[in-house]
Amino acid sequence: MDFNAAVEQFKKVLESQQKRAAAMREQGDFVDYAALPKIVVGICGGDGIGPVITHEAERVLRFLLKDEVAAGRIEFREIDGLTIENRVACGKAIPDDVMEQLKGCHVILKGPTTTPRAGDGMPNIESANVAMRKALDLFANVRPVKIPEEGIDWTFFRENTEGGYALGSQGLETDDGVAFDFTVTTTEGTQRIAELAYDYARKNGKNRVSIITKANVIKTTDGKFLRLCQEVGKKYPEITTDDWYIDILTAKLIDKQRRKDFQVLILPNLYGDIVTDEAAEMQGGVGTAGSANIGKRYAMFEAIHGSAPRMVAEGRAKYADPCSMLRATVMLLSHIGYQKQADELERALDVCMFSEKKLTITGRDTGCTCEEFGDYVMETVRAMA
Ligand code: IPM
Ligand code: MG
Repeated sequence: MDFNAAVEQFKKVLESQQKRAAAMREQGDFVDYAALPKIVVGICGGDGIGPVITHEAERVLRFLLKDEVAAGRIEFREIDGLTIENRVACGKAIPDDVMEQLKGCHVILKGPTTTPRAGDGMPNIESANVAMRKALDLFANVRPVKIPEEGIDWTFFRENTEGGYALGSQGLETDDGVAFDFTVTTTEGTQRIAELAYDYARKNGKNRVSIITKANVIKTTDGKFLRLCQEVGKKYPEITTDDWYIDILTAKLIDKQRRKDFQVLILPNLYGDIVTDEAAEMQGGVGTAGSANIGKRYAMFEAIHGSAPRMVAEGRAKYADPCSMLRATVMLLSHIGYQKQADELERALDVCMFSEKKLTITGRDTGCTCEEFGDYVMETVRAMA
């Protein structure tokens, strides 16, 4: 691209982000699920081990909500087409018919999807996760990590539509080899993630919120993110706000003396992506962690990990760990107002994963299958009722 084309491209991305910011200013409030006659739950299996673990989570969800389904208050809808084959065939991160079906739901339970990367021979299409988060404006990625025996109870609020992800597929490179990507922070986009995090802290009796940036170096966007989060924090005088740079935060998360002091953390998109994998690994692996993608109109619940194509290639898909999707299911239930069922499932998962551990998942035939683990969780829910 020559100099003038690069300037044109920059104009285009600037306009697109200004338009997005303006749209955020027009947005209404969160959906009130209690006021809906029926909640539509979309089920999207995804790629690799996705369909296996998503099917298991759906089975558990149907079990917990069977009275609601019978009474017509909950409807499940299977959405089949979000596969890498379909996405490559139509050259789009989310095929149009799939997008239409997604928009007909209130909440979505989604399995991991495969993301093409530079050099793998697939067309350079955007990640389906990232595209869905943007298209449905799922601005808050909420990722809890708990290690009860160490007193760790962290909730990460990762900003989900901006930062390095907003224009991740729209960078530019000039003919003489100078490449740029863009990082975007908007006023509206930062305020809404900060407000959600502080509200969560207040409602859940948390008294500390930590804002994570690299504002000493990335001065304009991270500097703004930090300043705006701090301003929102002033409206919550009972909560102590502190801030950390991302590098020292990653170190402190492995400092056994200090790490349990963190409670709620707010992070720009990319730092949130990286740190939540680190945190999930401490809890027992990325296969144990669920994730909620919350917007005002839609919400999507998923595992934090990828589609594990290697497990499928080696014939081990049926041994995949459904815990990440089951943790996501807890968040889905809570989000749509079924807190009792959410608590039941969460307690059963704590028993099955941490205390009783009658069955273990190893990802291969040395452990139980995904389906056996799902049965174990449902039996545990029944036994505890
Ligand atoms: C996640 C994933 C995605 C992300 C990938 C699959 C694009 O790592 O949900 O954390 O980077 O957000
Ligand atoms: Mg990630």
